[in-house]
Parts: sequence; C-alpha cells; structure tokens
Amino acid sequence: MDKKRILSGMQPSGRLHIGNLLGALNKWVAMQEEYDCYYFVADWHALSTSYEDTHEIKDNIFNMLVDWLAAGIDPEKATIFIQSRIPEHAALYLLLGMITPVSWLERNPTYKEKMEEIKGKDLATYGFLGYPVLQAADILMYKANMVPVGVDQLPHLELTREVARRFNYIYKKDVFVEPEALMSEVLKLLGTDNRKMSKSYGNAIMMADTPEEIKKKVSTMVTDPQRIRRNDPGDPEVCNVYSFHKIFTPAGETANICASCKKAEIGCTDCKAILAENLNRYLRPMQERRSLILAKPEKVWEAVDEGTLKAQKIAKATMKEVQEAIRL
Ligand code: TRP
Ligand code: SF4
Repeated sequence: MDKKRILSGMQPSGRLHIGNLLGALNKWVAMQEEYDCYYFVADWHALSTSYEDTHEIKDNIFNMLVDWLAAGIDPEKATIFIQSRIPEHAALYLLLGMITPVSWLERNPTYKEKMEEIKGKDLATYGFLGYPVLQAADILMYKANMVPVGVDQLPHLELTREVARRFNYIYKKDVFVEPEALMSEVLKLLGTDNRKMSKSYGNAIMMADTPEEIKKKVSTMVTDPQRIRRNDPGDPEVCNVYSFHKIFTPAGETANICASCKKAEIGCTDCKAILAENLNRYLRPMQERRSLILAKPEKVWEAVDEGTLKAQKIAKATMKEVQEAIRL
C-alpha cells in the first residue's frame, strides 16, 4: 500500500525554540514513522521579508537543520531538502502565478496581518504578495496529501487548493492533488516574560540551550503576579511556570506542585528549580544527538544533498506533466 504523502516547510530562522519543537517539530518526527514525509527549508520564502539582510541565511539554514535532526528527524525515513536548490519550484511558481487572480492574494488575512505587524521593512513588493503562490508551488509540486501547519497558514492552504482546482479545470487535466491542512493544536508556549515566545523578543527557551542556560532562564520566568511574598498562596492557573509544568513535569508531581502552591508550601524558586530539572531531562536526548551531529557536520549536508536529489526527481516529473497539460 502506498503511504500518504506529507509535506511541510519552515523558514530558516536559525536555532529553534521549544515552542517550535512542541508546536511543529515533534509532529514532524512522529509522522515520519507512518507517512512518506518531505520536510524542507523555505529559504526563498525567507527572502520575502528579509531580502535586504541575507548575511545570516546560510548559518540559519545549518542551525535549523541541526535542530531538526536533534529533535529526531531521521533522513533515512523523511526526505529533507532546501527549496532554493530545486529551481523547479520557481518554474511552477511562475506558471501558477499566471492563473492566480490578484484579488485572491490581496484578500488573504495572513498577508494583511503581516503587512501591519512587520514594521521597518518595505513589504509592498511583488514577492511578498505572491508568497502564497510560492507556497502553493511547494505543496502541489509533490502532490502532498497532507500539510501540517499552524493556524496562520490556513489561508495559504485554502489558496493552494483553489489554485490546484483552477489549474486542473483550465488545462482539463487532473495534474494536482488538493492537499488537506493538518492543523497542529494551538499550544501557545509563552516566553519567560509572558509574551508570545519569540527569538526576537529574547524571551525564548532554545532547544540548544545548555542545562545552565535553562536554569537561568527558568529562574527569570514571570509567576503569579499576585504572589508577592513567599507566604502568599499562589494561583497556578495564572502562572506560566505552571503551564510549563503541565507539559514537562510528570502528572503526579504537577498535582503536588499545584496543591503546594495554593497553600504557600512551595516557593517559586524551588518550583522553578523543579521545572528546570524536568525541562533539562526532556531535552537531554536531543542534546546528546546534537553533540553527535556537530561532531560530523558534513553528514548534515550529505543528508540534504540526498534528500534534494530525491525531491528533485519528483519535481521534474511533475513539471513534465505541467508543461504537457499547458501544451508548452
Ligand atoms: N509559510 C510557511 C511558514 O511560514 C513555510 C512554508 C513555505 C510552508 N512553503 C510551505 C509550509 C509549504 C508548508 C508547506 O510557516
Ligand atoms: Fe507559579 Fe510555582 Fe510560584 Fe506557584 S509556586 S506561583 S506555580 S512558580
């Protein structure tokens, strides 16, 4: 039986934080056991906002790949590749651009939000508007059945389906498969300062942080703001440290912490020390894998070379069908 095909991409933001790990990467790892998975670095997509500042892209790609592998992505099971190494993506992007109404792009809520959110960059570019068309090309190229993404990407998946339908209709050939979005549950890990966890806010706990760094970061986490003195009872439900316990601490211990916090039997310093320990225990296998990977960095590139060759074979076959359908 043929396995269903999964495809997903990430922009090369460099080292990943534990929000990226829990929100996306862990699912990628789990899915490689069951599906035919393609995971790629969307470096052209990164240019849509960072076209003026490209000096870190190469390092960011490498560091992100290391985190993928440290998390457990296994190149023997999943195909990993880099978008910009497969020019077929650009060719398909161009052809899909011919049939995509501008109005579909302008009404995209993610486009409008990003436009407002990202200040200090001129995003009134053709490339930024066309971002979802490039994403549609990434997805349709591999005839992916399912695409694991976060909520903000749902409009792009909807557009991908519309473009696939329109292509198949116009050229009277069922070249493309309409992909299904696999929504990752909304698990919003807050940063140490209670804002959204983000590398740019400096409030993120990174996958690559050492046990010492984790300890230090956890010790700065915001707790129940009403709990000022050690003797004040706390409310775990409003405390971000407690949200972390629910994820990283065994259930029994978490229940104890909850009860002790409410009775002021445990202080925040001790509570955080327990969390740091559990967080480190969770990350330890990944740290061990990371050391092995970093001892032989050339292996990372070999895995990408192999994955790229494999992906490009599919891309070439799809482009042949596309050219024939269009009668080029
Ligand atoms: N736009 C996605 C993001 O920012 C990255 C991406 C590019 C992607 N191409 C894709 C994700 C194809 C899934 C499928 O998260
Ligand atoms: Fe939060 Fe723990 Fe302090 Fe309670 S004891 S407020 S759960 S850090």
